Amino acid sequence: MIDTLTIKTTKTSHSRLAETDMSNLPFGQVFTDHMFVADYEDGEWKNFEILPYGPISMSPAISAIHYGQTIFEGMKAYKQQDGSVSIFRADKNLARFNKSATRLAMPIIPEEVFIQGLAALINTDKDWVPAKENYSLYIRPVMFATDPFLGVRPSSTYKFIVLTSPSAPYYSNPLKVKIEMKYTRSDEGGVGSTKTAGNYSRSMLPTLEAHQDGFDQLIWTDSKEHKYVEESGAANLMFVVNGKIITPEVRETILEGVTRDTVIEMAKSMGIEVEEKRVSIQEVLDNIDNGGLTEAFAVGTAATITQISEISYQGKNYVLTDPAARPVSTAIGKKLYDIRYGITADPFGWNLIV
Ligand code: PLP
Ligand code: COI
Repeated sequence: MIDTLTIKTTKTSHSRLAETDMSNLPFGQVFTDHMFVADYEDGEWKNFEILPYGPISMSPAISAIHYGQTIFEGMKAYKQQDGSVSIFRADKNLARFNKSATRLAMPIIPEEVFIQGLAALINTDKDWVPAKENYSLYIRPVMFATDPFLGVRPSSTYKFIVLTSPSAPYYSNPLKVKIEMKYTRSDEGGVGSTKTAGNYSRSMLPTLEAHQDGFDQLIWTDSKEHKYVEESGAANLMFVVNGKIITPEVRETILEGVTRDTVIEMAKSMGIEVEEKRVSIQEVLDNIDNGGLTEAFAVGTAATITQISEISYQGKNYVLTDPAARPVSTAIGKKLYDIRYGITADPFGWNLIV
């Protein structure tokens, strides 16, 4: 039984909804009228509040901005056919948030704070959940260290904020990707399996260089040998080889995606075979060459299912099958879409109606 949270709500005196074009929402640029905020002090979470979205005042000495003791999550809420709103697999994101918190020596968030805070915020801003096809309300919980202290040690105070952003998917076109052989995203013993800022800051220069070379994204490889593909910039990777989905197995250098798990479950329920294993670059390239590889795609909350159209390795470009003619990922994507938007029943129990 979850305790009921007491949340103080201060509503905005001027909603920005009427002046927002809800049919043109590039990812992550528009925020709803409110945010949920909580503080961790004296060993407990307190001060649960829904406030107008806006700037917050912080000491410039907080350790989050100096040492990166900060974690986040990404999930989505979808408008259902009956007008209600569902959050997709929030339990999984909570579990991963707390796994990240533990690795970063931060306090975990109790289930009632996370779920009730989210639900209250989404109910307050429910008119902001887009109705447009493929659009959703992207939810961004973030926790960061707030001790104003320049010593390197875990903070004793933290802030937890949930932002919501009505958005289109992160990518609008199939991706041309480069297999990265110089830089790495993460390494054994590191924080690659958590959603912490450092994993993203270290990816910026490599991704910028990839953009300058004409690619949309990178495929990260293992840090020891650059022999195995791991994941993409903001999504996990899947390939269809001889009718079977193969995907890099979860390890400490890879973020264990909720979408990855969802697609695997869905594929299995449709009778599609799935193999989770170490996937070598050689295996991918050989199967492109011999025609066995018929689909490649990236899966993530923001990315949804994004097709990969071309893969480049050491200067050689491999053009894949037509992204518009990929039956396996298209069929899985359609079934998933119907569950997320309440078009069909949800036998998996993934939707949390708020
Ligand atoms: N890998 C990375 C590095 C990501 O940032 C994301 C996005 O959250 C994913 C994978 C996919 O995870 P999920 O499906 O939980 O969004
Ligand atoms: C998500 O898919 O939720 C992410 O966190 C991707 C983000 C880094 C853009």
